[in-house]
Amino acid sequence: MASKKRDALQTPHIPVLLHETLRCYETMSPNGLFIDATLGYGGHSEAILRRFENIRLIGIDRDPEAIAFSTRRLAPFKARFTAVRGAFSDVLPDLLAKERAVCGILADFGVSSLQLDKKERGFSFESDNLDMRMDPDAPLTAYDVVNGYDVEALGRLFREYGESRAWRRAAEAVVEARKKGAIESGKALSEILGKVLPRKGKTNPATPLFQAIRIEVNDELGEITRLLDVLEAQPPKGAVVGLITFHSLEDRLVKQRFRKWAQSCICPPGVPRCVCGNNHALGEMPVKKPLTASADELQKNPRSRSAKLRCFRFYEEGES
Ligand SMILES: C[S@@+](CC[C@H](N)C(=O)[O-])C[C@H]1O[C@@H](n2cnc3c(N)ncnc32)[C@H](O)[C@@H]1O
Repeated sequence: MASKKRDALQTPHIPVLLHETLRCYETMSPNGLFIDATLGYGGHSEAILRRFENIRLIGIDRDPEAIAFSTRRLAPFKARFTAVRGAFSDVLPDLLAKERAVCGILADFGVSSLQLDKKERGFSFESDNLDMRMDPDAPLTAYDVVNGYDVEALGRLFREYGESRAWRRAAEAVVEARKKGAIESGKALSEILGKVLPRKGKTNPATPLFQAIRIEVNDELGEITRLLDVLEAQPPKGAVVGLITFHSLEDRLVKQRFRKWAQSCICPPGVPRCVCGNNHALGEMPVKKPLTASADELQKNPRSRSAKLRCFRFYEEGES
C-alpha cells in the first residue's frame, strides 16, 4: 500500500502518446525555444528536454499544483527550463511576439489524472464538493454552474458539451433537485443524474455531463479556439505544433484549423480559375491522420483511449 502511494506521488499523471509526440517533433529544429502550453506534471516536457539537449523549454499551466510539481521534477534541467503560471491564451501572445526562435509548441488539452483523482478538487463522482477549476483562483466553479444556471443554460451545456441525448431530462432533474436545497457535491450530483440516465456497462452514466460542466467551468473550448487564433495571427515560423485532444469537440476545432492553414488556394468554391495567388498555406501537416495510442499504451493507460495527436509544421520565412 505504502509503495503504491509513493508511486502515485512520483508519477501523478502518465503522459499520453509519448512516443507519438516525440515522432511529431522528429524534424523540428534542435535549437530554439519549445513551449509546452499544458505543462501539467512535466512528463512530456521532460521527454522533450532529454531528447533535444540544446533547446530551452517554457512550460505553461494555470494550476499552481502542476507548476510546483513540475518545477521540482524538472529541477535537473533548470538552466533550460522555466515554468509560467497562467492560461495559455493569456501567456502565448506575448511569448510569441517576444521570442523569434520558437521551434516547437505542444498542448495536451484537458485535465490531468491528479486533478481528476484528487477528491478535494471537486471533479469526481466521489467528491464532497463541486469545484472543477484547473485554476483555483478562477471566478466560476462547478457549484456556480450546477446551482446557478437555469434549465435552458444547463440543457444547452449537456447537449452541446456533453453530447447527451438525455440533456433535457438531466437539466430538469438538476433544477428539480435544487428546490430542496443547493447541490453541494459531486456525489449528490452523480446520484441525481444517475436516477434519470440510462446505465450502459460499467461507466458512470453521468460521465459526459460532468465533462460538460468541466468544459464550461474552465472555458476549455474557448481556450483552444484562442490558442489557434493566436497561432494563426502570429504564426511561429518554422515551428512544429503538436496538439493532443480527448474528445470530438476538441479534435474538430484542431482538425478544421490545421486544414485551413494547409490550404494554399483560398478562392471561393466554384471559381473557374485560381485568382488568389495559390500561396496562402501557413505550413503543412507532416502526418495527415491523427496519431493514436498503440495497443500497449491502451493497456497501460486507459486515459489514452480517446487521445488524438495532430501535428502541423509552420513554414520557414520564404518557404512554401
Ligand atoms: C492533460 S494535463 C497535461 C499533462 C502533461 N502533458 C504531462 O505530461 O504531465 C493538462 C494540463 O494543462 C493544464 N491546462 C489545461 N488548460 C489550460 C489552459 N488553458 N492554460 C493553461 N493550462 C491549462 C491543466 O491544468 C493540466 O495541468
